[in-house]
Amino acid sequence: MTAWSDAALAHLIRALPKAELHVHIEGTLEPELTFALARKHGVRLPYKSVHALRRAYDFDDLQSFLDLYYAGADVLREESDFYALTRAYLQRARVDGVVHAEIFFDPQTHTARGVAFADVISGIHRALAEAERAWGLTHRLILCFLRHLSEEDAQRTLDQALPYRHLIAGVGLDSSEVGHPPSKFVTVFERARAAGFGAVAHAGEEGPPAYIREALDLLQVSRIDHGVRCEEDAELVARLARERVPLTVCPLSNTRLKVFARMEDHNIGRLLAQGLCVTINSDDPAYFGGYIADNYLAVQRALNLSPVSLARIAKNSFEAAWLADADKRRWIAGVDACLLRLT
Ligand code: HPA
Ligand code: ZN
Repeated sequence: MTAWSDAALAHLIRALPKAELHVHIEGTLEPELTFALARKHGVRLPYKSVHALRRAYDFDDLQSFLDLYYAGADVLREESDFYALTRAYLQRARVDGVVHAEIFFDPQTHTARGVAFADVISGIHRALAEAERAWGLTHRLILCFLRHLSEEDAQRTLDQALPYRHLIAGVGLDSSEVGHPPSKFVTVFERARAAGFGAVAHAGEEGPPAYIREALDLLQVSRIDHGVRCEEDAELVARLARERVPLTVCPLSNTRLKVFARMEDHNIGRLLAQGLCVTINSDDPAYFGGYIADNYLAVQRALNLSPVSLARIAKNSFEAAWLADADKRRWIAGVDACLLRLT
């Protein structure tokens, strides 16, 4: 096989059909939209310009990011704001070859400020339904509980979600990980699963491998979001490989939040080689400097992943998605066909 140029690899990455399984809709808020919404609502931002805001996106760890992420969400106030936010993300995702997106939203960030749960979900859903009609881009919506808040708060949020059960595929767990283990949320996850919701959880991003075990054993999640610290526990790695537990890895997030110092140090290549169902996702693309294709490209360049490995990761994204088996098979065949066509 001839060597692949950078441009050919970039083309392949965009052309491969992909599912995005780890993206926070609030993390897709680009500074331009932040300023437009601030103007609309008469909010004064502590930044002079879009550039100044972007310059502030220089993080030491997860918490330093979360502080800005929650502050940024303050401009999201009306149904139409959530619609505009989601529509902008979907346009970017489509250009990157995303054909199916499973999207997190953080209702507590908004309801705590007096925004109605109904407005949040209606705006997001309106954009999702439009993208499906217009482009065939399918979706699932995942409600994340903020783990720095109490389980009682999560329970109240689940109550608010129940009338919208038909629009929400599952629940997840995000925000400050260390000190807020999955075990804190056993009861609310039990209730959510009994109500028919799927379950995922962020674990092993900054938290220890034990949090990954708790997410699997106590919350009974079907995927782990991040999960990269599993590597510190060989038995856990073996289990994840044996059970094909998907990890939704977010490489640019990991380097920007200093989980890994450099992309060259990222363990996704090693985890893939050990047979784990790893996927590549964007997490909070407006804050971390890239959407899903940028994440694939950054990993490819740093770790010199082959086209076959990139296709394997794209296929993993459908294996890990909450799709019917027939749809998974169809998209996986689509990945193989794309690789053949471009090789
Ligand atoms: N980790 C935890 N909480 C989050 C993240 C993340 O990467 N992004 C948005 N909320
Ligand atoms: Zn995340």
